[in-house]
Amino acid sequence: NQPPWPAYRGYHEYSFAHATMGVRLPTILGKAIDDTVKTLNERYNEDEIVDLVSCIERMEDLMDDLHQNSKLRPIVDDGEGDVALWNKEIAKYFRGKDFMNAPWLFAEAYKYRRLHECFSVSKYWKNYDVFFRQKCDTFSRSSQAVFELSTRFADDFKYATGIDEAGQAKARQLIFHELTQVCLWGNSTDLSLLINMTEEDIKKLQSTGGDHLADTEKNILGNHMDRLWQLVSQIKDGRIDFVLDNAGFELYCDCVYADFLIQCGIAKEVRFHGKRFAWFVSDVTRNDWNWLLNSMVYGHLFTGVSDEELASLKKMGQRWKKYEKAGQWKYQEHPFWCTGYTFWDLKSEAPDLFLDLSESDLVMFKGDLNHRKLTYDCHAPPSTPFDIAIGPLASESGAPPVVSLRTIKSDVVVGIKAGEAERLDKEEPGWKISGKYAVILLSEGDKG
Ligand code: F6P
Ligand code: MG
Repeated sequence: NQPPWPAYRGYHEYSFAHATMGVRLPTILGKAIDDTVKTLNERYNEDEIVDLVSCIERMEDLMDDLHQNSKLRPIVDDGEGDVALWNKEIAKYFRGKDFMNAPWLFAEAYKYRRLHECFSVSKYWKNYDVFFRQKCDTFSRSSQAVFELSTRFADDFKYATGIDEAGQAKARQLIFHELTQVCLWGNSTDLSLLINMTEEDIKKLQSTGGDHLADTEKNILGNHMDRLWQLVSQIKDGRIDFVLDNAGFELYCDCVYADFLIQCGIAKEVRFHGKRFAWFVSDVTRNDWNWLLNSMVYGHLFTGVSDEELASLKKMGQRWKKYEKAGQWKYQEHPFWCTGYTFWDLKSEAPDLFLDLSESDLVMFKGDLNHRKLTYDCHAPPSTPFDIAIGPLASESGAPPVVSLRTIKSDVVVGIKAGEAERLDKEEPGWKISGKYAVILLSEGDKG
């Protein structure tokens, strides 16, 4: 299962792979060590302290491996459900490869798995999340956009009085159009790129107002929004899946969107797929999921806001918790999502997950990393149609409809007009990693 184009690798100096493997990953790991040291300094139980010191030593070993560009060794059997998948992939395809000459996608994912291993083999710190503080902090600094959405969407969705069936359909379409974009641009707040964001930066990235969205729509270079609505408007009481990306604000936007899909009867069930452990800095884990809902209902995160604003957030959080209790929203975490495999191998390496997803009416893949995995993170020409670029996930029998909502933050770009990438290469170097541009790309799948 391979496309005809070569995968990006760390030694490709012209690509973001090079800067990521050489500079970004050691920086991110350095911050992770700082976070753990902070936790260490706050503890008083000797056994826990000694255990955590060993975790830090293992992180330092990993840092050495990154700096020395060591060969990728097998993952230690720490009892996680993904160990066999990791070690099979290393033995079969990447034996003897190092961080720089293994495919970028694999080597980068491998670094996060090794980081998890630093803790998973410990006694007291198996589930410690080195990025948790950062994730919570960024959400709490996102108040403007958070309340913009909660004050608009806390009340149950209803149509204006006297509006006929056609009018209702139009209203649904307009909100769908807007919330799809909110959900899309929610992906620009990715902590792995924006390590030192100011409050102002966050605000700029998170504007959710109508004018701003109309403005940014022209930055969606491949845009299947109309086809997407065609498909979604046919679904009644269906099942929609979100393969989540980042915690905090992005997850909040995903949930606002999912709430609308439930309330207007498109979905009767929404499944959210998250990660089992800390992944690519800001990806959602079960703790992040619980944290978001609980802090909306019980938290005291935001200062300088009105009682009405706080009440709207609480109301929305309570409704989301009800969905979860009633089984209308389900949070799932399959081990496959935290492996180095691309989604070209989803059916062969995780047949149970493929079978599960094939029951869905639409699977929404959020963000840059999921997009890299969908497209094999390879040198596909930018005009390659999306359903060719995602290979088996479009063509295998049983493949569900798939949409990728991605702000562009890395090299692989597909599904855009011929000539567009070349123009931007000339006029706006760095356009592929700025997060300014995006795609909404749909494959209708092959459910037979
Ligand atoms: O480090 C590479 C990368 O996958 C980039 O492509 C992107 O900057 C980041 O990590 C993850 O982005 P996202 O959270 O949107 O998947
Ligand atoms: Mg992410």
